[in-house]
Order: sequence, then C-alpha cells, then structure tokens
Amino acid sequence: VLPKISLVATAVAATILLSGCGDDAAPTGPVVLKTAFNQSENNPQYKALVSFSDKLESATNGRYKLEIHPNELLGDQRASLELVQSGAIQMAVVANPLVENFNKNFSVLAMPYVYDNPEHQRKVFTSGVLDNLFASTKGTGFEVITAYTAGARSVYTKGAAVTSPADMQGKKIRVMQSDTMIKMLSCMGGTGVPMGQGEVYSAIQQGVLDGAENNEITYADLKQYEVAPYFSATRHVMVADLLVANESFIAKMDESDRELFRKLAKESTQTQFELWDKALDGARKTAKDNGAVFTEVDIKPFQERCKPLQAAMLTTPEQKALYEKIRELAE
Ligand code: GCU
Repeated sequence: VLPKISLVATAVAATILLSGCGDDAAPTGPVVLKTAFNQSENNPQYKALVSFSDKLESATNGRYKLEIHPNELLGDQRASLELVQSGAIQMAVVANPLVENFNKNFSVLAMPYVYDNPEHQRKVFTSGVLDNLFASTKGTGFEVITAYTAGARSVYTKGAAVTSPADMQGKKIRVMQSDTMIKMLSCMGGTGVPMGQGEVYSAIQQGVLDGAENNEITYADLKQYEVAPYFSATRHVMVADLLVANESFIAKMDESDRELFRKLAKESTQTQFELWDKALDGARKTAKDNGAVFTEVDIKPFQERCKPLQAAMLTTPEQKALYEKIRELAE
C-alpha cells in the first residue's frame, strides 16, 4: 500500500507544481495552450495560429502562449477534439462536421453552396452572428472560439476529371467523418467514404478510393496530386474549420485575460482569411507544376441535385434562423 500512496502523493505534488502552486498563487511561467493541428506548418491556419500566439504572448506580458502541434502529431481531428474535451490539451482546429456531431445546428455552416464567395464567408465569420452557436457546445467539455476558412472544396480523382453528376457515378470519394458529408457526396452522384485525412493518400494509391475532395491548399500541401491528378472545380462546399478550446480552461481564466484571448482569436480569423487568399495561387501552381490538371466545371447540375439535401438540413427553427442570417450577409 505504502508505495502506492507515495506514488499518488508524488503525482499530486507534481500536478500542483506544474499548475503553479494552486489557484491563489501567481503562475510561475507562461501558461502554455497545447493546440492540435492536423495540417502542415505551410497552412495559412497554422500561420494565423502563430500570429495569434505572438499577439497573446505580448499582450499578456508573456503569461500565455500557444504550443502548436501540426501534422496530426496529436492524432486526427476526432482524437484531438476528445483530448480538448478531457482537458489533456487546451485547443485544436477541427473541421465543422466534427462539431456537428454535438449540435446539428452547426451543419448550416457547412451546407452545400451556402456562401456565395470567400468574402461572404469572411463576413459571416467576423460579424458575430455565430456567437450563440459557438457557445452552444458548453457542457460537453469544449467551446468554439472562432472559425477559419478552408476555402471551397472540389473533387479530385485518378483517371479522368469529373464534370457532371453522371461522371461521379460509382466513384468512391473520401469525405470527412460526418453524415452530412456522406450525404453530400451521394447528392453529387458518387459515394462518400469517411476517413481521417492522414490515410487518404495511400487509400487512393492502393485503389481503395477513386479520389477525394478538398481545397487546393491541402491538395497541394499533401501532394495528393501525385495519386489523383484530375482536380475538377466543383466548389461544392466551403466547410468552416473551428478553433475549439477546453471549456473549463476558458472558464478559469481571469476575466480580462479571457476577453483579450477572445478578441485576439477573432482577429486571427481576419488574418487567416488574408493569408489564405495569398496562398491559393501558389498552391495551384505547385499542383500544376507537378502534373495536376485543373478543370472548370458547370456547377449548376450539382447545385440542383443538392437542393433536397439543403432543404433536409434546415429542420430546426434555429437552423432556419441561422441560414437566413448567413444569407442576409451575402451581397
Ligand atoms: C481541410 C480542412 C481540415 C480538414 C481537411 C480534411 O483541409 O481545413 O480541417 O481536416 O480538409 O479533409 O480532413
């Protein structure tokens, strides 16, 4: 029994030391927010997080900073969301569909063709219309702090371009781990196969998949043009990425720090949109230089086929109200 007790005591002591000697004492070093990120350091979201961290550190005289772990080092998005919920880490960037699993109203943020263009999406993310929605996951261990853009998603395949729903028939296309994304792929004419991002390259290579769908930046960064060189600009959905944080971590910050934290996080969204815009052409060029073939697509037939899904996604009064608010911000 004795060794057990001393082990527990040592662990408790270590925890207290690490957390700065209890609630009343001033923290001894910076509070580090471990942040999981599933893409590379080249991604505009990563750069926006770095700038967020720098600003937070300087505004709090070094009391807070982010420690960003890119490339799925802390697991795929589903795993990293669980780490945030349990408090093992403080933050993560996860795609909207993962959060939809907690509150269906989020699905409106990733409805097919809900935003007219990037500028419309930027307005939605920075106008405050999403604040109530973002606070709604409180009670499940995490809250949404802000949203980042991940551009528009398009389908890319091996073999040939897909320019019509008929071309999609029988095609197995990787989607994110969500029901909406699976349904979306069937309304476009194909079959959605859910999996984490890290497995996509080899699944296409091995023929388990015919292709995937994503934005140009991720497509180029993960070199997926090597296995699926036909990029067809279906631009079917602009899925938000969400910066989520552990709920009790946020609650325990003192009020002025919390306000500062929220304000700088919102500002990072603006920065991130600018970085995204700047990175797009380079990503397309990298992909083309490495053999990718970009094909413009008449999106109307896809839009038509996705209308029933859009209608089915607006079931609750909250979803309808949110949809209206988003559309009001279109030009
Ligand atoms: C985009 C998005 C990520 C997401 C990824 C995916 O790159 O920004 O958050 O994980 O797509 O398809 O899994």
